[in-house]
Amino acid sequence: MVVKVFKDKASLGEFLAERVKELIEKKPDAVLGLATGSSPLATYAALARLYKQGLDFSKVTTFNLDEYVDCRIEKETYRYFMDENLFNKINVKKKRTHFPSPETVGEYDEDIEKAGGIDLQILGIGVNGHIAFNEPGTSFDSKTHITDLTESTREANKRFFNGDISLVPYQAVTMGLGTIMKARKIYLIANTEEKTKAIRSLLNEEASVKLPASVLISHPDVTILLTEEVNPVF
Ligand code: F6R
Repeated sequence: MVVKVFKDKASLGEFLAERVKELIEKKPDAVLGLATGSSPLATYAALARLYKQGLDFSKVTTFNLDEYVDCRIEKETYRYFMDENLFNKINVKKKRTHFPSPETVGEYDEDIEKAGGIDLQILGIGVNGHIAFNEPGTSFDSKTHITDLTESTREANKRFFNGDISLVPYQAVTMGLGTIMKARKIYLIANTEEKTKAIRSLLNEEASVKLPASVLISHPDVTILLTEEVNPVF
């Protein structure tokens, strides 16, 4: 795993957006794996700027990592998040943007394969080391599946639901760890101080299902992108 440290979220986002640009310029029909949450926001803002400067997303296909099940607030669905923060700001074709759902859960991995596999996967990481909605204990070879959200994840996400935990969904559909591992290139972003413990474990300890992100240790092409506040003393 390669580790890069940036002075702030914006410079990290610029760096990753440039990597996406290089990929799309080389391969206009690239397949991107995308995350929601605060971690990739600066990257998406930078991608929207690159689109204005001429980067063409019209042949790009995207697969998002996850989506809530039965989300009662439409504005909190991950589809809405992606439309607002990226898809409505670039010229990606909506029919080429994919999200897992209870109806398609069994076909999502196959759909990714049919599209040619993910060229570049963007990940955030949870305070407990989760990636996508793969909570501690998830099998390293899991495929896209429906999962129960832990209380800590529901608690962390209630800020998006007017602070009311009763509105936070109980389940999500998520790419599995095995699904994520099939991506050819992976960038994992950690850009807030609260992620330090998970990042230290990832960089210093052996792979364990207790830290879902540690599945990445055996991937041949992972880059960890940190801001300075994520103390990079390993
Ligand atoms: C979102 C996702 C989650 C987040 C993680 C970090 O699609 O898969 O695993 O990446 O919970 O969230 P933020 O970036 O909001 O700190």
